[in-house]
Amino acid sequence: MTDQKPTGQKTTAGKSNGRQAAQQQPAAKTTGEKRLPPTVDIDALIDDPKTRVIVCCGSGGVGKTTTAAALGVRAAERGRRTMVLTIDPARRLAQSLGLRELGNQPRAVHADGFDPKGELSAMMLDMRRTFDDMVQAHAGPDRAEQILSNPFYKTISTSFSGTQEYMAMEKLGQLAATGKWDLIVVDTPPSRSALDFLDAPQRLSTVLDGRIIRLLSAPARAGGLGIRKIVGAGFGLFAKVISAIIGGQLLQDASTFVQAFDSMFGGFRERASQTYTLLRSPGTAFLVVAAPEPDALREASYFVERLETDQMPVAGLVVNRTHPVLAALPANKALSAADELDRASRPPLASAMLRLHADRVAVANREKRLLARFTKAHPSVAVVGVSALPADVHDLDGLREIALRLAGK
Ligand SMILES: Nc1ncnc2c1ncn2[C@@H]1O[C@H](COP(=O)(O)OP(=O)(O)OP(=O)(O)O)[C@@H](O)[C@H]1O
Ligand SMILES: [Mg+2]
Repeated sequence: MTDQKPTGQKTTAGKSNGRQAAQQQPAAKTTGEKRLPPTVDIDALIDDPKTRVIVCCGSGGVGKTTTAAALGVRAAERGRRTMVLTIDPARRLAQSLGLRELGNQPRAVHADGFDPKGELSAMMLDMRRTFDDMVQAHAGPDRAEQILSNPFYKTISTSFSGTQEYMAMEKLGQLAATGKWDLIVVDTPPSRSALDFLDAPQRLSTVLDGRIIRLLSAPARAGGLGIRKIVGAGFGLFAKVISAIIGGQLLQDASTFVQAFDSMFGGFRERASQTYTLLRSPGTAFLVVAAPEPDALREASYFVERLETDQMPVAGLVVNRTHPVLAALPANKALSAADELDRASRPPLASAMLRLHADRVAVANREKRLLARFTKAHPSVAVVGVSALPADVHDLDGLREIALRLAGK
């Protein structure tokens, strides 16, 4: 990339909001050979009162948490009552925001030099606490106690794959329901596959609804006929292994737990579908974050397609940590000038600088080519490039700097 702002027309991503923005954006302009993507207008997006939720998603390590925090800071400074929901054990984010620790409850952000026109709160998702709160909200008080004190609960609430993703969405639903914030910016977990995040509610309900639950609840349902009976009844190797490993008492615990859990399952599923509806609503905007690397962009492509298939509103792609080159000197000219200087036995510093420049131009060109490939596949997806800062982002100034780049300033 030669510039942190991909050239191209600004879209009204914020004015028309998320899904419409993606749909109304004109297809990429063609200038000569190159297709130029539309640009994400971040300020229009965060200023628009209709934007209520921004979800930053993408594959691991690409800058989702940083982007979410930077957007939160900028939105608050531009006057919105903003909440940043972060999922990682985000010590760095906590430091940036002047919070010693983030809890499962939102906290107002106070930091030196931070006096926003609006407000900023932040919280880090505590998965277990969110699960506990959900049990308490959906099972009556007696049942809740029975579930929470069950040894099996700990396993089920922390180790199912997708639980964290699901709980993030559950928490988002809870926060949105309070109506306390104009805008909630959601960071997403570092999923192995970015798709886990969207599949989580479905997967979790499948697990809870599925064979394991039926199997474990079978002894009680069968009138306490016991493990031997289940195995004998053809539940197969899985049941044998379970009973051998966890033993009768635990199986009983599990079974009791599942019976209790089952009773609140209707509420659970309903919540999942409400959150899904919130994610598809026009007030939600998904920003897909990617590094300018083949794998991350391939995953971003996949993610965009998946969001579009699910009719989730894609506001654009953030290409984070780009390496733009501002000088116009092409790499080949820099290299031949360096060769000239070497041949003339000039001091080596100048030719070394020219070669360094040529390397940087090569990196920038590679990033441009990768992005062009993405844009060719998704001409209507708006893009914004965020150039790499010289160091990691630890503080408010760093977040502001990222936010400026996001806003194309
Ligand atoms: N534009 C940037 N310039 C410099 N450093 C950056 C930039 N964006 C992110 N970083 C740094 O890169 C690291 C990873 O960023 P971040 O934690 O936001 O990624 P993530 O996508 O949330 O990762 P994970 O998937 O593990 O949650 C952090 O140390 C952050 O400070
Ligand atoms: Mg993160």
